[in-house]
Amino acid sequence: MAANRTLLMLPGDGIGPEVAREVRRVIDWMDKRRAVRFDIQEDLVGGAAYDKYQVAIRDETMEIAQKVDAVLFGAVGGPAYDNVPRQHRPEAGLLRLRKDLDLFANLRPALTFDALLDASTLKPEVIKGLDMLIVRELTSGVYFGQPRGMQMYEGEERCVDTQAYTKAEIVRVAEVAFDLARKRRGKVSSAEKNNVMETGVFWKKTVTEVHQRFADVQLEHILADNCAMQLVRNPRQFDVIVCDNLFGDILSDVAAMLTGSLGMLPSASLGGVGPDGKRKALYEPVHGSAPDIAGKGLANPLAMLLSFAMALRYSFDMPEDAELIEQAAQAVLNSGIRTGDIMAPGCTQVGTEQMGKALIAELDKRAA
Ligand code: IPM
Ligand code: MN
Repeated sequence: MAANRTLLMLPGDGIGPEVAREVRRVIDWMDKRRAVRFDIQEDLVGGAAYDKYQVAIRDETMEIAQKVDAVLFGAVGGPAYDNVPRQHRPEAGLLRLRKDLDLFANLRPALTFDALLDASTLKPEVIKGLDMLIVRELTSGVYFGQPRGMQMYEGEERCVDTQAYTKAEIVRVAEVAFDLARKRRGKVSSAEKNNVMETGVFWKKTVTEVHQRFADVQLEHILADNCAMQLVRNPRQFDVIVCDNLFGDILSDVAAMLTGSLGMLPSASLGGVGPDGKRKALYEPVHGSAPDIAGKGLANPLAMLLSFAMALRYSFDMPEDAELIEQAAQAVLNSGIRTGDIMAPGCTQVGTEQMGKALIAELDKRAA
């Protein structure tokens, strides 16, 4: 029997618990039909943790997160927490997971599904066949740089955030980008602002150095603002984009929306390879907690299910099972079944649970 696969589920707030439930359904299916077992633990994060424990994530939860093979994260936040002190805000739970697990490489694929071409606000001919990947640095840059906060400066109040990168921080995320490009179409676009920012100059220089070890991959440098424009103008020119934390936050939202539905996009956040040969990893849908539809059973669970598929691929070395889920998701869409966010004329609108069950039905067909 294969070694135990350990998973920590952190459904979080809003639609998080609803979409996470559908992952449970798929895991149960895998248990029954594929005889693969997962040891699952579940805990609170974000507003849900704050309500019960007055923190966005507990130390106990962090300890579990450090030990498991993968963390599967739903979503955090909601208007109820707008006035909670910043260090306990729901987002703080996610930022702590990223930082403490050292999940420095955030993989955000943007991939169009043929059945959903019309869901995009861009013309179908611009986005048809889009398959790109943003590799966002996730544990440094202006999100974490010191000093930060309020100060007095020449008798005036002033507020500071700091953008800082060490060489090692740039090297390791660039390596991930080049490595993944090798398994894709062999092109990396490195986005920064070397025309304005010192860290931009350093980023460009460092990525160029790393490239020497990946000479078979094509490297281009692109200014981050131009990159945003090119994403909307002609997104298919990109294969892998690598960038810092803040540019990655912004560019990945643009890339996500090209596809027409945030409800479809998974992501993975990977750490370094530890002494046990394993990479720490967290998987989460790109969409947020969607408080407006939370608890109504309307949310699209596909991003969460596809995040689980990424976990199968990157943490559990089960690429066939990952593909099975991805193909089943395609098939469900091709059959015209849609949640509200991707609804189109002539299609059948369903809720979260029905979408999950439709996916299971497709899995059944494929595994038969
Ligand atoms: C994201 C989110 C987070 C970020 C927030 C919730 C802290 O926007 O994952 O892109 O800014 O990184
Ligand atoms: Mn974001």
